[in-house]
Amino acid sequence: MIQDSQYRPLGASGIMVPPLGTGTNRWTQGKDDEAVFQAFHSLMDAGLNFFDSAEVYSMGKSERLLGACLQRDPRPVVIASKFAPYPTRLSRRQFMNALDASLSRLGKQTIDLYYIHFPYTLLSIETLMDLMAQAVAAGKVRAVGVSNFNAKQMRRAATRLARYRIPLAANQVRYNLLHRQPEWNGVLAACRELNVALVAYRPLERGRLRSDTVPGATSGLLSPTGGKGKVASKEEVVQKTLLTIAQQRGKSVNQVALNWLLRRDTRVIPIPGTTNARHAMENADTLKWQLSDDEFTAIDQVSSP
Ligand SMILES: NC(=O)c1ccc[n+]([C@@H]2O[C@H](COP(=O)([O-])OP(=O)(O)OC[C@H]3O[C@@H](n4cnc5c(N)ncnc54)[C@H](OP(=O)(O)O)[C@@H]3O)[C@@H](O)[C@H]2O)c1
Repeated sequence: MIQDSQYRPLGASGIMVPPLGTGTNRWTQGKDDEAVFQAFHSLMDAGLNFFDSAEVYSMGKSERLLGACLQRDPRPVVIASKFAPYPTRLSRRQFMNALDASLSRLGKQTIDLYYIHFPYTLLSIETLMDLMAQAVAAGKVRAVGVSNFNAKQMRRAATRLARYRIPLAANQVRYNLLHRQPEWNGVLAACRELNVALVAYRPLERGRLRSDTVPGATSGLLSPTGGKGKVASKEEVVQKTLLTIAQQRGKSVNQVALNWLLRRDTRVIPIPGTTNARHAMENADTLKWQLSDDEFTAIDQVSSP
């Protein structure tokens, strides 16, 4: 189980979550429901009760399957979902209808963390935050987040929400060892400055940071050049560094990759996506050990932009 000291805050919202969440964008109600139920139960047993969904994931099927999991297992959870601000959605009524539809699919009265999914919209950030504040006032949303926002957009969102005394709780952005842009594009710095959680999506770069996708992982033979006469790409060098550490520690590559993100900054909350109970457990085991200083630095050096 998770130690109390390991929980991380969603900014100043007052909501604490385990250091790893779980992404559900490939959860689709249908033939694999049982596998997902098993993954959900395993995650809950491990204390990983923070789940990330969105109305657009499989056209609502992710939220629906998550709702079915919640019905089967009534233990407390923290649920995040997202509003997609399509250019055709310009009115308050459309926003509220979308939120109500998400709540209905999830079978909940309140969404713990509700994000604006992306900033590319005809509505201003200020208007979107006004709508979010109305959703909070209506008791339908506990905490407000944004996703794929840059530092300037985050500041605008936080400034507008401050009018309502609502903190910006999280910015969900792509962040992993092959994509460290949040460290230099100002987003991580803005999260620190504004006290906002950085929820890291695609922390395994869609599975490219796991043992079975790393060249040489199955044979155990590692070549620094990625093959005879071939210059290794940066990705291969990162993968092989992770694999070397994983093999020395008796861990998996994805555990090493997640461990590094967790150690990089206490505001970071990775949300690896999985549909598989064994993978869920492997990810949960990441929280039972830590990289040494030397290992952290070695990974930092090979993956630095
Ligand atoms: N805000 C946004 O715009 C945005 C965009 C993309 C994603 N997201 C969110 O971020 C979440 C995570 O992103 P993602 O799912 O695209 O990428 P990801 O977490 O980087 O990678 C998911 C892939 O890794 C595999 N995997 C997970 N744990 C594993 C393990 N222990 N061993 C081996 N393979 C493992 C999964 O396969 P299995 O299913 O077989 O385990 C899946 O193929 C999404 O579910 C979604 O909630 C948000």
